[in-house]
Amino acid sequence: MAGGAFADQGPVRHYEGRVTAFVLVTCFVAAMGGLLFGYDLGITGGVTSMDPFLEKFFPSVYKQMKAGVHENTYCKFDNQILTLFTSSLYIAALVASFFASATTRLLGRKPSMFLGGLFFLVGALLNGFALNIAMLIIGRILLGFGVGYCNQSVPVYLSEMAPAKIRGALNMGFQMMITIGILVANLINYGTAKYRQGWRISLGLGAVPAFLLCLGSLFLGDTPNSLIERGQHEQAKAMLIKIRGTENVDEELQDLIDASEEAKEVHHPWRNITQPKYRPQITFCCFIPFFQQLTGINVIMFYAPVLFKTLGFGSQASLMSAVITGVVNALSTLVSILTVDKFGRRILFLEGGFQMLICQIAVGVMIGLKFGVSGQGSFSKVEADVLLFLICAYVAAYAWSWGPLGWLVPSEICPLEIRSAGQAINVAVNMFFTFIIAQIFLFMLCHMKFGLFFFFAGFVVMMTIFVALLLPETKNVPIEEMHLIWKTHWLWGKIVPLSRMPSPNVGYNRKAINL
Ligand code: BGC
Repeated sequence: MAGGAFADQGPVRHYEGRVTAFVLVTCFVAAMGGLLFGYDLGITGGVTSMDPFLEKFFPSVYKQMKAGVHENTYCKFDNQILTLFTSSLYIAALVASFFASATTRLLGRKPSMFLGGLFFLVGALLNGFALNIAMLIIGRILLGFGVGYCNQSVPVYLSEMAPAKIRGALNMGFQMMITIGILVANLINYGTAKYRQGWRISLGLGAVPAFLLCLGSLFLGDTPNSLIERGQHEQAKAMLIKIRGTENVDEELQDLIDASEEAKEVHHPWRNITQPKYRPQITFCCFIPFFQQLTGINVIMFYAPVLFKTLGFGSQASLMSAVITGVVNALSTLVSILTVDKFGRRILFLEGGFQMLICQIAVGVMIGLKFGVSGQGSFSKVEADVLLFLICAYVAAYAWSWGPLGWLVPSEICPLEIRSAGQAINVAVNMFFTFIIAQIFLFMLCHMKFGLFFFFAGFVVMMTIFVALLLPETKNVPIEEMHLIWKTHWLWGKIVPLSRMPSPNVGYNRKAINL
């Protein structure tokens, strides 16, 4: 799903070829999938804080907000139907990703992307023209299907089209596109909030990149890997020549064919992954996405404007604050891309965890001191600025640690024979907890009040200890040697049987991404 799902640790072989304009255009169109996911993540927060939107679809929340029905500020927005509007997308994405995985494998990456784009297009239009709550929720579910299909196919498409030397950067590039999508959504909300029907523009504009993705994927070629997987070797060769810009592609073609053959022998990735020798992988594929969501990041991504409004910021100030956190998120992801292979994953995880912890505690204390348990209070201008600064520092820490690494690490530690299962677990756990956080955050805020920030801080402590004790450094470790890192680890060394030998071709076959 989100996040370039496929790590690549640098080429084992160097094939001839250059980065052609064809490949760049192709990848640009495909990357629209990441942008769309980010757009949907970012757009709802602003929209659910707009009065005309609430008045039309959630009159009870609107009334309770205006009339101060809830004397407690923390509960202003607590409404399960309102959160369902945000969260329905993720449960739909979770369901769709299981179908998408079969479509991507059997019919190719291109039809999956086209379908994903189509779901986005119809979903965005339904939302933009929504007359009632049913249109709104059905639209969100269709957007969720779009997310499921695109997040399954786009990262695979990107990593298979790109030459090996830029594949790693593309992996994180997908996360970059997500953050850009979130930022664009924040900016659009800021612009449209002034108008009564502005929310329609915000929700409907998602149709533009969706249309580009649909149109583009009609003209895009499928990847050589996918063509080979479906027995079309001649077309695969023609496509390789086109994307590598050279006639000399026989070696790469042969490797792809070998890889595809070997991938076909992997009959039971689900059974494989439960073997004791894959304990570390299954542990990380479950816990990394769980912890990523338990950082609390989507509280900010989904509900920043609502949160800022709850804390007494004005409407425009709330939306502007969301734009600021969006900029910080995108820029800090860039920091991660530039440093991850130099400093390693662990240091980013540990520093990120420490910084998030400090910020969460400080935010919890500030809100606790000002609003207490009763929820009565307000911030001065300076205090509001300090609060915004702390939230930005928290977002920055997330964006160079758990954001991109939450996708990179699970994908790079799984050898071919369990990769499809590992990736599916990672996506499913991520979507499930994204749904949970989206659904219960406003309820938790109402009941746990400022303590909510300490709740997430507690999880940040746990995840940082988890990484410190259990995650070995994977920087610069070629995929085919990844099994060695467990052997020397104090705990995994005892659990992973010593007989574990790498399958001889796994190094070449990392291209046979077999989801
Ligand atoms: C997460 C999303 C989150 C985004 C924020 C992604 O890695 O999976 O849930 O909204 O990062 O940038």
